[in-house]
Amino acid sequence: MNNNIIKIKYAVVGFATTLIVACNTNHKIINSTAYDNPFEKKVDSVLKLMTLEEKLGQLNLPSSGDITTGASQSSDIAKKIQEGKVGGLFNIKKVAKIREVQKIAVEKSRLGIPLIFGMDVIHGYETTFPIPLGLSSSWDMDLIEKTAQMAAKEATADGINWTFSPMVDISRDPRWGRVSEGAGEDVFLGSKIAAAMVKGYQQDDLSRNNTMLACVKHFALYGAPEAGRDYNTVDMSRIRMYNEYLPPYKAAIDAGVESVMVSFNEIDGVPATGNKWLLTDLLRKDWGFNGFVVTDYTGIEEMTYHGVGDLQQVSAQALKAGSDMDMVAEGFLGTLKKSVAGGKVSMDDIDKAVKRILTAKFKLGLFDDPYKYCDLSRPEKDIFTDENRAFARKVGAESMVLLKNENNVLPLKKSGTIALVGPLANTAVNMAGTWSVATKQDKSNPLLEGLKTVVGKDATILYAKGSNIDYDLEYEKRVTMFGKTIPRDGRTDKQLLDEALVIAKQSDVIVAALGEPAEMSGECSSVTNLQIPQVQKDLLQALLETGKPVVLVLFTGRPLAIVQENQKVPAILNVWFPGSEAGLAISDVLFGDVNPSGKLTATWPMNVGQVPVFYNHKNTGRPLGNKEGKFEKFKSNYIDVRNEPLYPFGYGLSYTNFQYSTLNLSSNTMSTGGSITVSVDVTNTGAFEGKEVVQLYVRDVVGSVTRPVKELKGFKKVLLKQGETKTISFQITENDLKFYNSNLDFIAEPGTFQVFVGTNSDTNLMKTFELIANNN
Ligand code: BGC
Repeated sequence: MNNNIIKIKYAVVGFATTLIVACNTNHKIINSTAYDNPFEKKVDSVLKLMTLEEKLGQLNLPSSGDITTGASQSSDIAKKIQEGKVGGLFNIKKVAKIREVQKIAVEKSRLGIPLIFGMDVIHGYETTFPIPLGLSSSWDMDLIEKTAQMAAKEATADGINWTFSPMVDISRDPRWGRVSEGAGEDVFLGSKIAAAMVKGYQQDDLSRNNTMLACVKHFALYGAPEAGRDYNTVDMSRIRMYNEYLPPYKAAIDAGVESVMVSFNEIDGVPATGNKWLLTDLLRKDWGFNGFVVTDYTGIEEMTYHGVGDLQQVSAQALKAGSDMDMVAEGFLGTLKKSVAGGKVSMDDIDKAVKRILTAKFKLGLFDDPYKYCDLSRPEKDIFTDENRAFARKVGAESMVLLKNENNVLPLKKSGTIALVGPLANTAVNMAGTWSVATKQDKSNPLLEGLKTVVGKDATILYAKGSNIDYDLEYEKRVTMFGKTIPRDGRTDKQLLDEALVIAKQSDVIVAALGEPAEMSGECSSVTNLQIPQVQKDLLQALLETGKPVVLVLFTGRPLAIVQENQKVPAILNVWFPGSEAGLAISDVLFGDVNPSGKLTATWPMNVGQVPVFYNHKNTGRPLGNKEGKFEKFKSNYIDVRNEPLYPFGYGLSYTNFQYSTLNLSSNTMSTGGSITVSVDVTNTGAFEGKEVVQLYVRDVVGSVTRPVKELKGFKKVLLKQGETKTISFQITENDLKFYNSNLDFIAEPGTFQVFVGTNSDTNLMKTFELIANNN
């Protein structure tokens, strides 16, 4: 260990003095529990020098706002930084700018405490990967981790050292626009992805300058707003919370995530931002989290609208509950001094929060070198490189889900004439999807460009837009914001359609690029209609009527209700928003250079009325008695639509076929504390090499509380050559059988368990075993 003494110069009116802080420059971060103590002394040595105002400054996180190099010197935020009233900034882009701003903090503020720089680096930085819901559909943890690692490398090269990711909110409601930002509906998969993302960003080593702090969000339950409307009330039983919504946050904590962002919603009637049970009892005491907690945007101020007090009151409540850093609201900065004076908040409450933020800065090595992430030569070497883009192309293809492929319309041949039609066929700026603030929007390749590149001279590509996004211009404006515009075509709907039909008739096959534009999902993009916009449905119908084979390339940030399309269109490839290399990645799959292997991580409903519909539901006391799902009076079903969704969780086709056989358990009993092995043979019976996500589900048949009909407990993504059979094994341990009972004890109960294995959650390949109490 290399124990250095570093000196930070700071100026106090009239004289200069030196702050001496013991710094250990070789510190290696291993996990969240290991490093609290090594920094304590250093943190205390800084804390002792701070005034109350400076302490409150550390808790303040404004948005970068009007900061620009040069002008920043005189802007309001620059002034605040100089006065020590800012702890960090977020969503400021460009390393040179960040360096300038850091300089103000280090050289012009009294104590010279460096700032932390945050950003929503959600699915890549300038090189953008598929939206998180798409990424999760790859079911490939190494790949997902690598995307986060690469995002960290790019973001840190540009001065950012803290990302507001991963977003791990479980959601069973496709109306909610932010379903696009998470990993879908399942806690088991969601927890694995949460851990992979944290690992990717932090790499268990914050001493490097290409790793960054992760921030798990939105704690908690943000994905369950009433009616799917963003920011709406959440109300949920504890038993559901513990079993079905909290595990991914916990998985991120266990993986060592350094920060947590609080959600906007209330929990048990108390806004999460000021919820002591959530932020202190659960997060810190039960789960052992010792990083820092940041509010979400104006979360503190929003508590006044929730109706729990005025700004001073809610700021005090938020701090005492366990919120450490105030994003944007300036409730802490503006009111806590008064609350200290009035005895509503103690210095100890404030010190605790300040210490956590200073600790994070020490962990990042900012006291050793405030410019650690400000190497001006890095962007060119590390950002949007050919290597990163090649990886984005690969990941894009891995995320796609083949929903239908009748008569093997896909893969397409690289010959003849292909008509590419649709408002999403030639829009670079929409390819990165929502929450891609750093992306190079216009540098993404759209499908038209991708197709042309991939076919070269071998085939002719004809293109027509075919329709606008929506008949309604006002609606269209709402879903094409933040530069993700699709210029409204001045021609009439009929003219657009006619042009498309002309090229359709000249072609051998039609590729229709339809669905949602990027901003139709994401924050504050909730919907009550899950269908493709009507103008696009009409276009699709007209294309089908030409009698030519049609491939629907579907862009979406959420599960859609595409019953009619599923009935009529022979091939549907769901591509989400694949990121920077969208056009090439989609083309790779369309032509079979990549065999699709993505599987849905959220159920796709028949219609919006079925929502919420998810695979791991309970059975009810009146389940249907027939396997076909036919209507039965006085049973739990609808009179107008079946219970089953359109596509179940885990669903996704391949250009080849996989056959499952010989499901075996190593024993038909398992003792508590023991384990059993499940094995199954999977054979590639089709004409292509391909990857299959083999899925394992378990049902606890009898419980002290009711248990879901099935729960994912394992998965493996395997590559199988044509004709090849592989035996895939899973181990089930007692831990996999545990759940939270009515006392919220995490236990496994002896009894019968069913084990299902298959290609998606709707599998009936099943064996049973008994869990037997081992009384030794
Ligand atoms: C979102 C967060 C995001 C934050 C900062 C909020 O509106 O809910 O997910 O991290 O803004 O941009």
